[in-house]
Amino acid sequence: MGKLFIEGRVPLSGTVAASGSKNSGLAIITAAILASDGRVVLENVNAGSDLQDLCEIISALGADVRWLDDTTLEIAAGTLSSSKAPYELARKLRGSTYIVGALLARVGEADVAFPGGCQIGSRPVDFHIRGFQALGADVALEHGSIRARASRLTGSRIYVERASVGTTVNLMIAGSLADGTTILENAAMEPEIVDLANFLNAMGGRVRGAGTNFVRIEGVPSLHGVRHEIIPDRIEACTYLIGGAITRGEVQVTHVIPEHFRTVLLKLEQTGAEIAETDDSVTLRASRRPVSVDIETMPHPGFPTDLHPPMVALMAVADGVSVVQETVFDNRFAYTHDLARMGASVKVDRDTAIVRGTDALTGAPVEAQDLRGGMALVLAGLAAEGTTELGGLEHVERGYVGLGDKLRGLGAHVRGGERLPILT
Ligand code: UD1
Repeated sequence: MGKLFIEGRVPLSGTVAASGSKNSGLAIITAAILASDGRVVLENVNAGSDLQDLCEIISALGADVRWLDDTTLEIAAGTLSSSKAPYELARKLRGSTYIVGALLARVGEADVAFPGGCQIGSRPVDFHIRGFQALGADVALEHGSIRARASRLTGSRIYVERASVGTTVNLMIAGSLADGTTILENAAMEPEIVDLANFLNAMGGRVRGAGTNFVRIEGVPSLHGVRHEIIPDRIEACTYLIGGAITRGEVQVTHVIPEHFRTVLLKLEQTGAEIAETDDSVTLRASRRPVSVDIETMPHPGFPTDLHPPMVALMAVADGVSVVQETVFDNRFAYTHDLARMGASVKVDRDTAIVRGTDALTGAPVEAQDLRGGMALVLAGLAAEGTTELGGLEHVERGYVGLGDKLRGLGAHVRGGERLPILT
């Protein structure tokens, strides 16, 4: 079990490059197995543990997967031979549900463990399953696995409940090789959905409307290999900016698309930070204690739920009282217990946290229980006086590649969190 040791109260200063988006990577690496012909080459892939686990799963399905370098992945799926994903690996990942959509479309059957991922609420997969059924698949939940079968998927008109990101991804993947047209109403509009659509279209797919809430997928008989660059990770990028704000430092994040996180930049400006941007970089400078702001998480383009825990860490040291409402997931506040251990004042009532800022956080032994909640503890540790010893680092490493290295590059006094080696 990995640990990160943080000596706090050191202002972050310098430049860090954003890695490729984890969530785009999960969708696009899975969609790569739709190609029956040719090789997919993906650039800007973040080799965090989630995407490495996914590579292992698709390789066990018979795809030829190899890393050309630290961030470039080559996948040839002409050789796909199995429809059963290794149980122990698939259950670790939330994104493994996408393999059901991809296998159904490509080989007409799938047997994939009920997914894992962060424990931030009940996280059912009922919308995905109803979507597959609407495309004509028989789906059963048996022995901890989703088992699905369809001799041929048929396009359908589907209302995506709660504008679910995962359901939109899955039905775009499955619909791409279906007979006829699939229409998604109330589709998710996240940048990762647009990235997936661009990838599918480059492979020969016909997806229109991605980025709006109405997506139209015309099924095609087959898809082929292509080269594609994955978009930058907007959540990781914003987390380092929040690191600048919480330590009253100056952080430049490069390799980003600022339009993908406009709402977050506005909120950070409201805390009193100065923001400067170019086409592909953002610099945050914070010379004073942040001022409290209220947050309500929303699907894109609203304030992203994945940045709610890092923002609560920032509010924990801010001047004033902040109300943070979580509207996307039903149990995302577990990390606040450990924040309290560090001296934060956070009162949670159902979906809302009331955070009373203090300038006196102190380092403590704490434990990450999920990816973004764990990152909130890292940020709090950077702002706290003394040493924070964070256990459960593996949760955080699922999404933050080379966390320790990147923080050290910004001048933080941290030990641990070296970049994970590539295993496949
Ligand atoms: C994705 C992201 C995650 C992000 C979230 C919201 C990936 C791998 N993960 O998660 O980082 O926080 O979008 O932006 O891309 N729901 C159901 N039944 C379902 C599916 C979802 O009830 O079948 C509920 C969820 O519990 C949640 C809401 O719908 O309350 C939205 O979830 P969804 O957008 O699907 O999130 P994920 O795709 O799991």
